[in-house]
Amino acid sequence: MEFPGVALVVGAASGIGKATALQYAADGCQRIAIADVQTEALQQVQSEIEDKYKNTRVNASYVDVTRYESVQALITEVVQQFGRIDYCANVAGIIKYGDTLTLPESDFDKVYEVNLRGIFFCAKAEIAQMVNQTPLTTRDSPFPARGAICNVSSQAGLMGNPNLPSYVATKHGVVGLSKSDGMKYASQQIRVNALCPGPIETPMLGHLGDGDEGKRRAAERISEISMGRIGRPEEMAHCIMFLTSGRSSFVTATTLAAHGGLRNR
Ligand SMILES: NC(=O)c1ccc[n+]([C@@H]2O[C@H](COP(=O)([O-])OP(=O)(O)OC[C@H]3O[C@@H](n4cnc5c(N)ncnc54)[C@H](O)[C@@H]3O)[C@@H](O)[C@H]2O)c1
Repeated sequence: MEFPGVALVVGAASGIGKATALQYAADGCQRIAIADVQTEALQQVQSEIEDKYKNTRVNASYVDVTRYESVQALITEVVQQFGRIDYCANVAGIIKYGDTLTLPESDFDKVYEVNLRGIFFCAKAEIAQMVNQTPLTTRDSPFPARGAICNVSSQAGLMGNPNLPSYVATKHGVVGLSKSDGMKYASQQIRVNALCPGPIETPMLGHLGDGDEGKRRAAERISEISMGRIGRPEEMAHCIMFLTSGRSSFVTATTLAAHGGLRNR
């Protein structure tokens, strides 16, 4: 796999986003932009990459995906710094538990603003940059590319969950957005796909709750997975490498479900 261009990971301070930023460096990308609302944790990711990969330049920026001007400022900064943006992983996300009768409206709004509107803002600003840049060719594919985007959805983007209506609705939305953008911009050599992870060992999974209730929910999750284990963030990073590299040059407007053989509800 070859990444001669510029990678951008939004939501890179933790979990799947952090693993993705590290994997771009491990796979030879030498210009990596990382962004998140958590700036201290983000700087640690920057140091970790720069310490391990001496030829890699990292640009770390604050971004709040709920505000379009913040996302636009990020894209402007990355282009000023690195000249272009080729591989985008839009990973930022949050989760709130509660069924439709008990979930406060403000929680629904927060989940929507980060998980769906935020991903839309990222895709909008990234595609606006990509359509104007010269396509790149790599050893991975004979077909030049202006850019590739992987929006992180979830298994919840493919099936329902009675206790997660806000999360499920927004993650279905990310799948729809990715399929639509993949179709719209294919002729401009831009690919857009969604990754749908199953349960992955990250701080977000800790939001299953504390104590017995948290343990019960975790056991319930594992019992649904054919592989009998939770996934690792690095395993999702590998999927994102594939979806944003030339190796997936004929893959667009679709989803990759990576959930260890989840048994459908
Ligand atoms: N962990 C899982 O089991 C799982 C399963 C399926 C899908 N996902 C999805 O994967 C993505 C990453 O989740 P994770 O498990 O690594 O969780 P995480 O909590 O470790 O990481 C999420 C990151 O998003 C950032 N973020 C939140 N709000 C933001 C905002 N407004 N602007 C910018 N950044 C913001 C957080 O600061 C954090 O760094 C999410 O979209 C999540 O929905 C996770």
